[in-house]
Amino acid sequence: MATLLLIHGPNLNLLGVRDAQLYGAKTLRDIEALVTDAAEKLGHKIAAFQSNHEGAIIDFLQKESPNARGIIINPGALTHYSYALHDALRDTKLPAIEVHLSDIISREPWRQVSVTSPACIAQISGKKEQGYIEALGVLHKNMQN
Ligand code: DQA
Repeated sequence: MATLLLIHGPNLNLLGVRDAQLYGAKTLRDIEALVTDAAEKLGHKIAAFQSNHEGAIIDFLQKESPNARGIIINPGALTHYSYALHDALRDTKLPAIEVHLSDIISREPWRQVSVTSPACIAQISGKKEQGYIEALGVLHKNMQN
């Protein structure tokens, strides 16, 4: 049974309260449960983590990645400026998928830029919680190769 890391960045602990038009109505716990159930059906285990602090996410990646096979990450606003998170993702040497609930490409110009996606094998944006299920499918397929 492979472990996959499911990581959420700043403000995503407030899903369900944040703008539902953009981010959907599901809470973070709903999303974590959805992904955990879907992963179990594929024979994988999810280790979920959320923090509002960049360094805490990097610490989690450094500690947990040696025991994991892949990463699903929604870095929140860190997406747009955290070179430190980019480097931490790359240093794990694991396949990572960047997920955004909203469609970042159709939003503000600064939000269209992702500095973390070059450290990921794919970016899925604008599909609300379904994006995570898609990401799981991509990682699962990647692990078969
Ligand atoms: C987000 C998009 C980011 O720009 C924003 O800062 C978030 C959520 C998304 O899931 O659509 O917090 O990552």
